[in-house]
Amino acid sequence: MTSGSADSKRIIVALDYPDPAQALAMADRLDSTLCRVKIGKELFTRAGPALVEQLSARGFEVFLDLKFHDIPNTVAAACTAAADLGVWMMNVHAQGGRRMLEAARESVERFSSRPRLIAVTVLTSLDDAELREIGFHDSAAMLVERLAALTAESGLDGVVCSAREAASLRARHGAGFTLVTPGIRPGGGAQDDQRRVMTPAEAVRNGSDYLVIGRPITGAADPVAVLHAIRAEIAGICN
Ligand code: C5P
Repeated sequence: MTSGSADSKRIIVALDYPDPAQALAMADRLDSTLCRVKIGKELFTRAGPALVEQLSARGFEVFLDLKFHDIPNTVAAACTAAADLGVWMMNVHAQGGRRMLEAARESVERFSSRPRLIAVTVLTSLDDAELREIGFHDSAAMLVERLAALTAESGLDGVVCSAREAASLRARHGAGFTLVTPGIRPGGGAQDDQRRVMTPAEAVRNGSDYLVIGRPITGAADPVAVLHAIRAEIAGICN
C-alpha cells in the first residue's frame, strides 16, 4: 500500500451537512484535484448512495465514514455494498473483533480497484471513566494501541486516530499503515467543539497520511484559498 505521504491529495474535507444540496454546493466550491471529501452518517442517511454517485461524477474521491460495527457477515455485506459504490475509502469499527475485521477485508479484496479499508479504534468522545463503565479496563491510549495492532494483523490498511496518537502508531506499524487524523486546526483558527487540536503541519510531522478537515475549510469565505494554504503548509514535510 502506498504511503499517503506520496499522495498529492492528503486533505479530506468533511462534508458535515444535513442536506445533500448543501453538500453539493460546497463540493462545487472545492476543487477535486486538491482534496477528497468525507460523507458521514447524517448526510449518508439523508442522501444515500445517490450523493456518492453525484460527488464521484464531479471527480471527487469519497471517504464513506459509516464505521460499520456488526456481526462479520453483515459488515462484509455492507463493505461490499460500499465498494460497489466506488468509494475511495471506507471504515469499520475495530471493536467488532478479528473475525469481523477479516471478513470486511476479504469483502473488499474481491474488487479489482479496491477501496482503502480502515478502522476506528476508540471513539475520541470516550474518556477512561466512561470506558470503565462499559467494561473496558485499559486506558483509552492502551486500547487504541491494542485495536490498531488488531487492525494491522487483520490486514486492513490503517486506522482513524488523533494526530497525538499518530507518532507512536507510525513508529509501531511503519510507513505502509495509513493514518487518518481529524481534529485539525490551522494555526490561529477557531477550535469549535474540538478539544485537542493540532495544526496540519504538526499532524503530518507526527505521521498522519490524511487530514480530515471540516469547518476550517467549509466555514471559510474562500474554501479553496484555505485548501491551498494548508497544502502549502504541509508540502514537503516528510513523515
Ligand atoms: O469540522 P471539523 O474539522 O471538526 O470536522 C472533523 C470531522 O472529523 C467531523 O466529520 C467529525 O465527525 C470527524 N471526526 C472527529 N473526531 C474523531 C473522528 C471523526 O472530529 N475522532
